[in-house]
Amino acid sequence: MRAYVVNKWVHPSELKLVDDAPEPEATGDEILVDVFSSALNFFDILQVQGKYQVKPPFPFILGAEFAGEVAQGSPIPEGCPYKPGDRVFGTAQGCFADKLVVKWQAVVRLPDNLTFDQGAGLHITWPTSYEALFGRAQLKPGESILVHAAAGGVGIVAVQLAKALGATVIAAAGSQSKLDICKTYGGADYTVNYLEKDWQKEVLRITSGKGVDVVYDPVGRIAESLKCIAFKGRAVVIGFTGGQIEKLPLNIVLLKNVTIMGLHWGLYTHKEPSRIAIVWEELLRLFASGRMKPILYDKIFSLDEVVVGLDALEKRRTWGKAIVRIKDENQRIVAKL
Ligand SMILES: NC(=O)c1ccc[n+]([C@@H]2O[C@H](COP(=O)([O-])OP(=O)(O)OC[C@H]3O[C@@H](n4cnc5c(N)ncnc54)[C@H](OP(=O)(O)O)[C@@H]3O)[C@@H](O)[C@H]2O)c1
Repeated sequence: MRAYVVNKWVHPSELKLVDDAPEPEATGDEILVDVFSSALNFFDILQVQGKYQVKPPFPFILGAEFAGEVAQGSPIPEGCPYKPGDRVFGTAQGCFADKLVVKWQAVVRLPDNLTFDQGAGLHITWPTSYEALFGRAQLKPGESILVHAAAGGVGIVAVQLAKALGATVIAAAGSQSKLDICKTYGGADYTVNYLEKDWQKEVLRITSGKGVDVVYDPVGRIAESLKCIAFKGRAVVIGFTGGQIEKLPLNIVLLKNVTIMGLHWGLYTHKEPSRIAIVWEELLRLFASGRMKPILYDKIFSLDEVVVGLDALEKRRTWGKAIVRIKDENQRIVAKL
């Protein structure tokens, strides 16, 4: 099968697609999935270089989020509610490939009103932002939130969810075109370019001097955001796309009466699996109702363009969720006829 097999730590530009990778074999709780679409994540860039916390043993296949069909001939483990042909999405190592194996407990049924492209980028991105906003920061209707990298994968979802709740959303990003996307597609109320000097003053102006109740930060901009956070504000650490792990002067946390908190969604699998089902129940309800739609970058990459896609991600050219289409849905329909 086709796959991006990683045999040593390399920069993503050196990745090669092979067409003779062995098909994975499902054992135990695993099912075999025919991958139709995958999503690009910033951490793919880190993982292939050995700079991410998850370092699978060599050789491994890159890619973490997918949507596809349970493959014909897949074993169906006891208790697994899926059958061959069912449309599912999930998280598994090895999504930039024709097929993958995944524990059936780690997949979710794809709502009928979503395509494989739309489903491919849901499984990590959406619960991360949902839990950060509601489980951790306890964002409430009428409160204000500053979302950093607001046009990016997790950022735009934070904008959409906060708007749906009835919060006032200030979207921060690094270019006018990205700020426009936050307004047009995400529905942000206000936008701020965080590459401009003293951008915090604009946030203070928007919030009439009070500052924002919540800061959502996938970049590493917590320290500078404390200049425009409200009394008893909450700041959530999501990631460090800026490349530096921040160090905070804790006297500011004390003087401003604020809370800094982290959210690592992946840890819930081990520490609080019961919460995963609750978050997905709510998200699936939002998708099924049509109130929430995934926002996709306008270029869909093909499997042989993964390197191009990761380059675009690394150079900050993408917005929304960047998707890799492994197979066309029509290809499957034609094959079945
Ligand atoms: N905590 C968790 O559970 C969890 C889950 C999922 C993802 N994450 C993390 O969240 C972060 C964002 O992931 P994502 O998939 O949303 O990424 P993404 O779609 O690539 O968006 C990242 C954005 O970060 C901004 N950025 C600022 N400085 C940058 C730099 N030096 N290089 C590249 N981008 C920079 C860019 O927006 P501008 O151009 O507007 O600045 C870029 O669009 C990553 O660190 C990821 O590991 C955490």
